[in-house]
Amino acid sequence: MTCSRRTFLGVLGGVTAGGALAVATGRSLAAPGAAPAPQGKRFAQVNGEFGWQPHALDPKVCVPVAYEGYWYKGYACGYGAFYGIVGMLGEQYGAPYNQFPFTMLEANKGGISDWGTICGALYGAAAAFALFWPRKERNAMVNELFRWYETTALPIYNPGEAAKGVKGDIPTSVSNSVLCHVSVSKWSYDNHLAANSKERSERCGRITADVTAKAIEIFNAKIAAGAAYKGALSKQKSVAYCTDCHAKGKDADILKGNMDCTPCHSGSEHTMNKFKDHP
Ligand code: HEC
Ligand code: HEC
Repeated sequence: MTCSRRTFLGVLGGVTAGGALAVATGRSLAAPGAAPAPQGKRFAQVNGEFGWQPHALDPKVCVPVAYEGYWYKGYACGYGAFYGIVGMLGEQYGAPYNQFPFTMLEANKGGISDWGTICGALYGAAAAFALFWPRKERNAMVNELFRWYETTALPIYNPGEAAKGVKGDIPTSVSNSVLCHVSVSKWSYDNHLAANSKERSERCGRITADVTAKAIEIFNAKIAAGAAYKGALSKQKSVAYCTDCHAKGKDADILKGNMDCTPCHSGSEHTMNKFKDHP
């Protein structure tokens, strides 16, 4: 048996019968039965941080699987997009990708447990990126994906005969927002379709496919370009304008975020006071 610093201190702690040295060891502070951290070092991670190896993916193969994953047991958008990337790496390369507990991504359904926050498909893709690249490298990838999502008329994907909700064309809309709430509600209002309708589910299944397609395009471009990767899309006009003053070191550093400011701060009739004179 090798005598690591941990076991050495542990033995000494026993000898001093609960003295100061025993308190100094991680083991005696941990809850009874808690496993020691890997390699005895807190936050140490198997395979290292952001340590998985990325491999280019074929969107033609993965995108229909993302759509199918959306419908699989109703696990929805985050699950579908994440499985369309990481699950497909698992199907093609085995471990460690296939060891991921994919159902974790089910939490993203409905913008996280139906709270309508971030679109789950976007989170699924961003989380997949984060298995491979740290924030400094990943931000350009996320920016590209989120800017594309805000400005593109979605859905684009049409599963044809494989459609699981509604077959045929589905109305599209530009969300101007990465939020599930804004994206779904605006689409429902514009198209006179209920947010809890089959059509809306189908729309989100197709958007899961669209987000996966775009995410894979970004993923493959990042693998090819490495640290030099840059997205093609620039900041939304509103963000560039408003952050002239609302940013670090500027007049009013009270803003957090890169979302398009327009849907919420343009004073449109949709964002006026609905607690008064409202049906
Ligand atoms: C020329 C500089 C400048 C620009 C451009 C600017 N702001 Fe401001 N904004 C300010 C300052 C200064 C304040 C006051 C900050 C304080 O009270 O701490 C402020 C306050 C605000 C407030 C809180 C008070 C209020 O009036 O509601 C909001 C919300 C806001 N800005 C949103 C925006 C948005 C959205 C944009 C882009 C459309 C924008 N700002 C562009 C300078 C600017
Ligand atoms: C999804 C809607 C949404 C988006 C998108 C959004 N905001 Fe806001 N913002 C809000 C809400 C809601 C508040 C809190 C308002 C309040 O204080 O009642 C707020 C607060 C602020 C404040 C602090 C002052 C205040 O009124 O409390 C500033 C400054 C601001 N937003 C600027 C921006 C800018 C600039 C952008 C774009 C980069 C942006 N916001 C995007 C909804 C949004």
